[in-house]
Amino acid sequence: ETFDAGSLRTPIVAVLGHVDHGKTTLLDRIRGSAVQEGEAGAITQHIGATAVPLSTISEMAGALVDPTDFDLPGLLFIDTPGHHSFSTLRSRGGALADIAVLVVDVNDGFQPQTEEAINILKRTGTPFVVAANKVDTTPGWNPQNGQPIQQSLEQQSERATSRLNENLYELIGDLSDEGFSADFYWRVQDFQSNIGVVPLSAMTGEGIPDLLTVLMGLSQRYMKEEMSVDVAGPGVGTVLEVKDEQGFGATLDVVLYDGVVREGDTVVVGGRDEPIVTEVRALLQPRPNAEIRTEKRFERVEEVRAAAGVKIAAPDLDDAMSGAPVRVVRGDDVDAVTEEVRKELAKIEVDTTEDGVVVKADTLGSLEAMANALDEAEIPILRAEVGDVAPRDVTVAQTAKEDVHKVILGFNVDVLPDAEEALEHGDVRLFDDDVIYQLVEEYDEYVEELER
Ligand code: GTP
Ligand code: NA
Ligand code: MG
Repeated sequence: ETFDAGSLRTPIVAVLGHVDHGKTTLLDRIRGSAVQEGEAGAITQHIGATAVPLSTISEMAGALVDPTDFDLPGLLFIDTPGHHSFSTLRSRGGALADIAVLVVDVNDGFQPQTEEAINILKRTGTPFVVAANKVDTTPGWNPQNGQPIQQSLEQQSERATSRLNENLYELIGDLSDEGFSADFYWRVQDFQSNIGVVPLSAMTGEGIPDLLTVLMGLSQRYMKEEMSVDVAGPGVGTVLEVKDEQGFGATLDVVLYDGVVREGDTVVVGGRDEPIVTEVRALLQPRPNAEIRTEKRFERVEEVRAAAGVKIAAPDLDDAMSGAPVRVVRGDDVDAVTEEVRKELAKIEVDTTEDGVVVKADTLGSLEAMANALDEAEIPILRAEVGDVAPRDVTVAQTAKEDVHKVILGFNVDVLPDAEEALEHGDVRLFDDDVIYQLVEEYDEYVEELER
């Protein structure tokens, strides 16, 4: 069986898991970078994207991967922050990723964000493998840099092996409690009905050849059909971040998950009030193996094909929202595409009432997650928007009827200087945090205090 390599889309691989379980370090090891070291507080704040070419993968995987077996161009890895919801990653169909790597620290096992990630993978039906990370921290471990895991296991003492196995069986048990039949990946025949567990170390690289082999195999075998669609159609993507760039003003970091975008294309982007219709002035592509979040030397290109991370420079992007859809218009159906984008945004709209709190969040997905958490806690919402806390939010919060509602809840956002001033002078309280449940808890405590 042969396919035309030129017509296959790059699979999107999301890397998920609990805070500090090693997602960014794993990607650093694969792409040969040190993004993790540069992060404030060693915490990933924004979703990232890195295109890893087949040549890099086959080099790392060594004997385990024969590049001539594959006609996929490589993999597009999406790094996610463990501390907040992966639901910020949406696409038309639900899940942005074709497959996922669930990273679990073998010593820590299942943690709250592991569960959250599992629930999202279940809901979206995304196939995944488990990276049982940090095997090198097993007492008595004898590190085997970059080796396939079975080779490394041969070099371990019986004691170290049995300590590791205990942890691994616990992990397999936790997966089974979640309704997944899981096993060591080398015993798995059908990766669609069984979850493969790959013991590895992002630090020493042992087991990474195995992970890459499993990911390539999974993509090639099960994703072929999905990878063959829409390759030359109008581009469709999701905004990761809206960033100011010198010489360009506001730009969009986008994951393009379908089709093609070209310089000069008309695009429609979800904006704060209305869909924004604009024209692509420049397409800036990160180099292979570079993280779009930290890349400084973008290459200017005329077109980009899915799946890819790309920075789009265009006029009028100031009100674009992280998490919003981006769609290329080919032909003259601007109105139809605008309507589609409007409909997609409407689906994410939050129910508001006449009295309640003001909510600000960094992305559409996190706004949605906030709204769900507040709904569960029976906290009414007066207004909910994406963006930093601005003076007019303080004005709106001021109009709340009850004192307990004269509040702004900010998730992962900054406070603009003018708003700081307004907060100092008025009686509106601001709560901000980058963990949703903590934000809700802080507010609940405040309500209790007021009622005392
Ligand atoms: P968030 O983005 O904050 O959710 O964290 P993360 O999952 O990206 O984890 P990160 O890569 O920041 O790693 C957290 C810590 O674990 C860092 O200090 C890493 O050096 C360490 N670490 C990651 N992988 C390994 C591993 O395989 N072995 C050892 N010993 N340490 C590791
Ligand atoms: Na971290
Ligand atoms: Mg990280």
